[in-house]
Amino acid sequence: MRASLLSSALLLFGGVVQAGTPGKRKNGPGGNGPPVDASILAHTGQPEGKEVVHNNITIYITLPSPRNPRSKPRSQTAVLILTDVFGLDLVQNRLLVDSFARAGYLTIAPDLFDGSPAPEDINTPSNPSFNVTDFLARHNTTVTDPIISTTISYIRNQLKIPKIAAAGYCFGGRYAFRVINSPSVLGGADVAFTAHPSLLTDGEISGIEKPVAVAAADVDSLLTPAQRASLEGLLLERGRPYQVSTYGQTVHGFAVRANYSIASQKLGKEEAFLQAVRWFDRFLL
Ligand SMILES: *[C@@H]1O[C@H](CO)[C@@H](O)[C@H](O)[C@H]1NC(C)=O
Ligand SMILES: *[C@@H]1O[C@H](CO)[C@@H](O)[C@H](O)[C@H]1NC(C)=O
Ligand SMILES: *[C@@H]1O[C@H](CO)[C@@H](O)[C@H](O)[C@H]1NC(C)=O
Ligand SMILES: *[C@@H]1O[C@H](CO)[C@@H](O)[C@H](O)[C@H]1NC(C)=O
Repeated sequence: MRASLLSSALLLFGGVVQAGTPGKRKNGPGGNGPPVDASILAHTGQPEGKEVVHNNITIYITLPSPRNPRSKPRSQTAVLILTDVFGLDLVQNRLLVDSFARAGYLTIAPDLFDGSPAPEDINTPSNPSFNVTDFLARHNTTVTDPIISTTISYIRNQLKIPKIAAAGYCFGGRYAFRVINSPSVLGGADVAFTAHPSLLTDGEISGIEKPVAVAAADVDSLLTPAQRASLEGLLLERGRPYQVSTYGQTVHGFAVRANYSIASQKLGKEEAFLQAVRWFDRFLL
């Protein structure tokens, strides 16, 4: 009797009850698997994915486990990670790919820097031989766009996956906007998330066609409070689904390179990851 009342209540609220285990939901609302929590986000440890080379581009890829109840409903979707300037050399970038795969998404990150990512933070280059200006000039949109469009065509044509979510961080954040711009030179994604994007132009913000979510640091010289307000104003004007979340007491790069001994940064990285997964769940499924 109790079980059936509980079942009715769960059904009323959109849950699906697994036979014989009253109260335990087999699927979340919409039948898309259980909700995610921050325990699936890895910040340290060994990456679990593999590398493939496609058209001379190295791509890091992690497949979701077939035993994960979230995987099957996401079999027609992929997450495309567009990294910061540290690229695939930074273990946190690979671990982010793995973490999205644990959310049930096949996840992929191209090497945007042809084997030579930045060695140091572009904000505080402590390596005097590293010239940020030169690095960014060499990795301009003319050079970077084709790498991303090739990766998108790999997802669609080789992997035969039709729906793509782009998640861009710092340097890659700008390109998360570019892939949902129209006319898209990049083959297009269906939804985007970006954390602390840099070098974004007003035109790229106003040009979006698809939903975008933004995770911003409160302290960020590359996306200042004034730029953040302007970004939000442009998204409001554009009239597409959007979300701008500012995480207090975080710094540029927190969604990738948070200092886990600082509670606000650890929380910020976890929340930004969950923000991305929920945004993708909402608009891809
Ligand atoms: C392929 O990659 C290598 C190493 O990054 C580079 O030297 C070469 O020019 C690339 N070839 C083409 C056709 O892009
Ligand atoms: C850094 O690169 C830029 C652009 O290539 C160049 O103009 C500048 O002189 C370089 N700076 C240093 C310190 O080498
Ligand atoms: C972009 O970078 C490439 C390679 O470094 C360079 O040849 C090209 O002139 C640059 N394009 C622009 C618009 O700066
Ligand atoms: C992380 O934060 C702690 C506490 O503020 C600090 O002691 C440490 O140097 C920081 N680590 C890095 C790598 O910045």
